[in-house]
Amino acid sequence: MVQHFSESEDPFLNLYKQAAERANPPRRNRAQNFEKQRRFYVVYQMIRHVLDRGSEGDVAECGCWHGHSAYIIASVLSDKGPRTLWVFDSFEGGLSDKIDQDREAIGDTSPEKTLAKKQHYASNFEQVKALLAEKTI
Ligand SMILES: C[S@@+](CC[C@H](N)C(=O)[O-])C[C@H]1O[C@@H](n2cnc3c(N)ncnc32)[C@H](O)[C@@H]1O
Repeated sequence: MVQHFSESEDPFLNLYKQAAERANPPRRNRAQNFEKQRRFYVVYQMIRHVLDRGSEGDVAECGCWHGHSAYIIASVLSDKGPRTLWVFDSFEGGLSDKIDQDREAIGDTSPEKTLAKKQHYASNFEQVKALLAEKTI
């Protein structure tokens, strides 16, 4: 059974889809990825909660990949007034190199798998910058 948020006028789902379509490469094929939707919904609610509490200060995302979650965060922030969003990533071809303790902890001992995962998570600074330039916050 495919599970996903309803296709109604749900503001989060609309934002999730908009971000998925604008991120580069477009993540359309993942728009129905329920686990990802659920994870990003938690991020969405957390940012709203922080803002609703009147907390001050900047917001940072560490590890943005193609900027899908950063776009959602930026959208929530821009709805609630000016706030600086810092977006960090290596932009150097994916995940950090693993040390032996990482490999033991996650049971990942194959260099090929590690390289494939690293390449999968490669991202492009200029593309993320262009995506987030749509959001003035
Ligand atoms: C799994 S993606 C997460 C993307 C997004 N935030 C999400 O929740 O779907 C992890 C990102 O973290 C970045 N990253 C991993 N280790 C890093 C490091 N040591 N310094 C900077 N960026 C790092 C990778 O380049 C990748 O874009």
